[in-house]
Amino acid sequence: MELLEKIISLSKRKGFVFQSSEIYGGLNGCWDFGPLGVELLKNIKDEWWKAMTYRDNIEGLDASILMHPRTWDASGHTVQFSDPMIDNKTTKKRFRADNLIEEEIQKLLKKGKTEKAAELEKKLESAKENEDYYNIIIEADIHDSGSREWTEVKNFNLMFKTFVGPVEDSSNTVYLRPETAQGIFVNFKNVMESGRQKIPFGIAQIGKAFRNEINTKNFLFRTREFEQMEMQYFVKPGTEKESFEHWQKERWNWYVSLGMKEENLRWHDHEKLAHYANFASDIEFKFPFGFGEMEGIHSRTDFDLLKHQEYSGKKLEYVDTVNGDRFVPYVIETSGGVSRSFMAFLCNAYEEEVIRDGEKEDVRTVLRFHKKLAPIKAAVFPLVKKDGMPEIAKEIFNDIQTTFKAQYDESGAVGRRYRRQDEIGTPYCITVDGQSVEDGTVTIRDRDTMDQFRIHKDEVLAYLKSNI
Ligand code: GAP
Repeated sequence: MELLEKIISLSKRKGFVFQSSEIYGGLNGCWDFGPLGVELLKNIKDEWWKAMTYRDNIEGLDASILMHPRTWDASGHTVQFSDPMIDNKTTKKRFRADNLIEEEIQKLLKKGKTEKAAELEKKLESAKENEDYYNIIIEADIHDSGSREWTEVKNFNLMFKTFVGPVEDSSNTVYLRPETAQGIFVNFKNVMESGRQKIPFGIAQIGKAFRNEINTKNFLFRTREFEQMEMQYFVKPGTEKESFEHWQKERWNWYVSLGMKEENLRWHDHEKLAHYANFASDIEFKFPFGFGEMEGIHSRTDFDLLKHQEYSGKKLEYVDTVNGDRFVPYVIETSGGVSRSFMAFLCNAYEEEVIRDGEKEDVRTVLRFHKKLAPIKAAVFPLVKKDGMPEIAKEIFNDIQTTFKAQYDESGAVGRRYRRQDEIGTPYCITVDGQSVEDGTVTIRDRDTMDQFRIHKDEVLAYLKSNI
């Protein structure tokens, strides 16, 4: 089985991720997080929140998903937030034109046709108009299941539309936000003034975003509903390069501090910049299908604030109280996907380890999550379901649960119970055995080293607190 399939299957079996409305056949591009998934998701968000907002110059925000529709005119989303789409007339399948060409490049590379692939890549990079994409597809003889019957390439706006109030007409149209960033920009003044902040300062937000993606694929990588964790850092114009480099380091180190292997990460500097950016770089993760963007660091200039100033008629300036200078701040944005990094952390943690015991060889599946991210921090087992062991085990379990998410398991051989916990990434297993009844000590088994040692039952919680 391919790695991605294994991870999807484990996610379902163990309760990390389920297909949305699965009993009705699922809804494309939407996923539900199960009991372990919500823990992992929450741990990622908590770590991000602490790292980003537990500082004196970054404030938190939780803006509403529905915003005034003019927001999206100002940001450019109503006109520009679209993907080039092409349909195959025979197979009736819809594709993102640029993705279709990228897939062709991958196919050529796999066949060893590097020159042709490079040529196509060059053409794709210089494509600007829909007509350019169409011409590349025709010239490169790209087909879908043998059919070359393509429609022309059209723009498809990715924002989900809905209506406020009972009347469904254009004057009541609102959009589900396609990014959390605009909620931050429109609140720039509110947060700065209420928080008595001076530049440089930031506003951080975690929340849902929605995009009607043409092609959803690769599990959680590209979905129609997802969460973002974004921070906009407002700086004095001219200092943006320094700030951009600072946030590049901060964000890279955050992933590494939570156990991301550096060999699984790389930078991708944008050559083709968005209309509002003067520098942009992505942290990419090595997913099972190849490197893909996990978080973008963007220097967005004063584009957004200027546009909101123009469209709302409200001044969005900063006044320097020392020298009286007035200016519209520049912005450095850090923009990561919660579910995309969830998937990255899951892939990064997944390991099939070969264990040798004399002649015998066994494979254990283990999720080597950083302890802070692990959904379950400890599991407690009575060796057998009698002789006073379950009572002691329950007592320890209840004690741990005052602070950490834990599991109690008394079914099956203890070796199998260890494996069950390894598969979901639990860092510690605590076993109550005959000796525990006599002297009050229990064993603690470490997920990664599989080493075991004894400790008094009253010290278990303190041990977990100092090690997690
Ligand atoms: N405010 C800037 C912004 O939204 P983006 O590159 O479009 O920039 C930022 O998105 C991050 O959001 C991405 O790096 C990715 O982690 C996540 N993201 C974007 N589209 C997504 C989708 N369809 N499914 C899951 N995550 C997505």
